[in-house]
Amino acid sequence: MEKILIVGATSAIAEATARRFAAQGAKLHLLARNQERMDGLARDLKIRGASSVSHAVFDANDFDSHKAAIDRAIMEMGGLDVVLIAHGTLGDQKACERDFTLALQELNTNGISVLSLLTHLANHFEAQRSGTIAVISSVAGDRGRQSNYVYGTAKGAVTIFLQGLRNRLHKSGVNVLTIKPGFVDTPMTASFKKGPLWASADAIAAGIVQSVSKRKNEVYLPVWWGGIMMIIKNIPERIFRKLSL
Ligand SMILES: NC(=O)c1ccc[n+]([C@@H]2O[C@H](COP(=O)([O-])OP(=O)(O)OC[C@H]3O[C@@H](n4cnc5c(N)ncnc54)[C@H](OP(=O)(O)O)[C@@H]3O)[C@@H](O)[C@H]2O)c1
Repeated sequence: MEKILIVGATSAIAEATARRFAAQGAKLHLLARNQERMDGLARDLKIRGASSVSHAVFDANDFDSHKAAIDRAIMEMGGLDVVLIAHGTLGDQKACERDFTLALQELNTNGISVLSLLTHLANHFEAQRSGTIAVISSVAGDRGRQSNYVYGTAKGAVTIFLQGLRNRLHKSGVNVLTIKPGFVDTPMTASFKKGPLWASADAIAAGIVQSVSKRKNEVYLPVWWGGIMMIIKNIPERIFRKLSL
């Protein structure tokens, strides 16, 4: 029975993934800001088959609380096999261009907070010499675009940090999984017009659970986003700078 910590557990993608882990009989520890939603989610996960579900209130931007939150998760579950980091915000790019205080907040939530968590988690998993660290980054971190480059910068930093961590932890038998979803229909993207490139949170969750069990390193979800991003990454800068993306 796997012991799984989910950070940002009330995210639509995290909830859908937690339901799938619960159906496998996992022990779960949830961290999120909203106690009431976590209470409801924990009840649902137990009904779906989770062996146990514990939870604690957690704000990713309270960096000083990270180590204690992880230590408590390990204590509640009696160990830790898998962590999924899922919290995030899609800030207002235009507002971030006007006010760096807002940009810094977005960089902290989507980038620095993840690096802080990973720093503590890496030491735990390295000493344990087993386990999986899975983090939801984004296709937005693959190339800077005018419409969301502050968010993209944070996700890009997470992706690079994970590359280094994977290289460091490989010899300790720890798998590091970078998850790069494309467009997903969740509360984060509620105001966007949806089209054929959009996926459901549950489709992404299915890909996450499969990638964790197959010990994959980096996945685009749905997988065909890998082809789209290959094209986008290879557009020469002199052409890319003229596009409205
Ligand atoms: N949706 C997409 O198209 C898409 C695409 C690529 C990557 N992603 C990534 O996928 C992950 C999950 O997002 P989602 O689409 O499932 O969106 P979502 O349902 O809006 O979930 C975002 C979650 O992040 C939590 N959060 C935000 N700031 C936090 C903080 N300071 N501390 C703790 N939790 C915080 C929110 O908690 P509250 O409910 O308390 O606000 C919410 O539960 C994110 O990392 C996102 O960047 C999403």
